[in-house]
Amino acid sequence: MTAETVHKPLRQVLDGRRQAIPPVWLMRQAGRYLPEYQAVRRTVGSVLDLCFTPKLAAEVTLQPIRRFGFDAAILFSDILVIPHALGRSVRFNKGEGPQLEPLNDPRLVASLPGEIDQAVLAPIYNTVELVKLALPADVTFLGFCGGPWTVATYMVAGQSTPDQAPARLFAYSQPDAFSRLIDVLVEASADYLIRQLAAGVDAVQIFDTWAGVLAADEFERWCIAPTQRLVASVRRAVPGAKIIGFPRGAGSNLLRYVEQVAVDAIGLDWTVQLDFAREEIQRRRPVQGNLDPLALRAGGPALDRSIDAIMTALAGGPFIFNLGHGILPDTPIAHVEQMLKRVRGG
Ligand code: CP3
Repeated sequence: MTAETVHKPLRQVLDGRRQAIPPVWLMRQAGRYLPEYQAVRRTVGSVLDLCFTPKLAAEVTLQPIRRFGFDAAILFSDILVIPHALGRSVRFNKGEGPQLEPLNDPRLVASLPGEIDQAVLAPIYNTVELVKLALPADVTFLGFCGGPWTVATYMVAGQSTPDQAPARLFAYSQPDAFSRLIDVLVEASADYLIRQLAAGVDAVQIFDTWAGVLAADEFERWCIAPTQRLVASVRRAVPGAKIIGFPRGAGSNLLRYVEQVAVDAIGLDWTVQLDFAREEIQRRRPVQGNLDPLALRAGGPALDRSIDAIMTALAGGPFIFNLGHGILPDTPIAHVEQMLKRVRGG
């Protein structure tokens, strides 16, 4: 068999085929909870330096595969490389999260370039090629980008905020400028995903981490519509491209997202009720999720109980086991091992 014909369980689920043992990976699986990641991280100045150093980025992409045998590897990069490639200043200061120059004035939006500088992102596509050479044939390789709305929230505020109020306010008070910012991000994100797919990822995920702070009409306008256009642009260039959508915290807007956005699978955050997930979401599309990162952090019987409930509800259909958001940096390795054993029945 060639590498292309080897069975990749996670890729199969994206085609709607249930696997007897659900494939499993963790959002943010390459990260600070891993001592081997910390060791590499200490050798570079910042997360962005790590993203733009292909040998090291490939190494940290592969670390969780080697240690845990996950069914997917996720490219080591960040959603904020897009503002960086649009010429905005992006910094990750230790312990503070990202710092960008705030983009909260229509004149600043008007001065954005129409396209990303692909030369800036070239090292990331290089990382994809390096990972591809080393990845076991049954592991699905995932690329990603942020949802246009989520990337816009960081660009407008210049940082993480508890409810992304600066971007919500800018969207209400300067809708034309905000709309232009979203348009630029849709095109930039599409180009970024298309290049990742061309370089060799098997599928991509759109992380709309801040979808849940939007009022219902705004959700339609700034999450659903831009994601529809992003998906359509990617599929125009790469017909049949496999895409996972993750509108975190969408709540009662989730069903509209599922009905209107043509992604291949839906990432469920940890608040989504399991019977609803099975009856209303999984009936329409394969699902991924939705263990509470704090249940994994806690371990013990609470972790087992949470896993069992998820498996009972969702493993009867096309399903990818994952967290409902990224793994927390203080999660013990032993809890990840406990989880894998429970999910895989070993
Ligand atoms: O295994 C992986 O998933 C690694 C690749 C990856 C990173 N960021 C590397 C990273 C992915 C998929 C992301 C996505 C990302 N980045 C999101 C969407 C998913 C989510 O968690 O909500 C968001 C909102 C960002 C923006 C971002 N990057 C923030 C807010 C921060 C600081 C807070 C934090 O989580 O640490 C980052 C930094 C960052 N990006 C780190 C990593 C491993 C940690 C910093 C470090 O190693 O020093």
